[in-house]
Amino acid sequence: MDNIILTGYMGSGKTTVGKCLAQLADYTFVDTDELIERQQQRSVREIFDTDGEQAFRDMETALLKKLTADKNEHLVISTGGGMPVREENRPLLSRLGRVVYLKAGPQTIYDRIKEDTARPLLQCANPMEKIKEMLAVRGPIYEKTASVVIEVDELSPSDAAREIMKHS
Ligand code: S3P
Repeated sequence: MDNIILTGYMGSGKTTVGKCLAQLADYTFVDTDELIERQQQRSVREIFDTDGEQAFRDMETALLKKLTADKNEHLVISTGGGMPVREENRPLLSRLGRVVYLKAGPQTIYDRIKEDTARPLLQCANPMEKIKEMLAVRGPIYEKTASVVIEVDELSPSDAAREIMKHS
């Protein structure tokens, strides 16, 4: 399938870059967090608070299976930052389209998410430490799941979108 899947840590710009990219490529933009929120009629934060993280991860896998089965094309799909972490999701992502990792460093991420309260995993005493710890674990997973890696620290969203277009 010719879909483009954006992966990467929270705050790496998947949604913003994805919208730019969809416009450039004349593709349809979808965001997995948003699809889950719409389906569940509640926010990601509420899902974590009420049902716990595992329930949210199950919803992510179920959604990936549905998107793969639907065989839609010309989609830019922005995924939640934890999507490639579950091993079962990785072949599903690759089957769904070309997987792109938007690679951002901890400082970029911290600067973007420091005022944010919607991301339950970063509601903690020391978000910078948490970001570094999670990146150490997830970085290699993002790298091996993606076929294209774009370093976004120095790029505007539209420049990042143009970079992705060069690889498509
Ligand atoms: C998560 C990232 C979030 C959202 C949830 C968990 C993660 O999506 O899916 O809060 O584990 O990295 P964004 O990457 O779009 O913020």
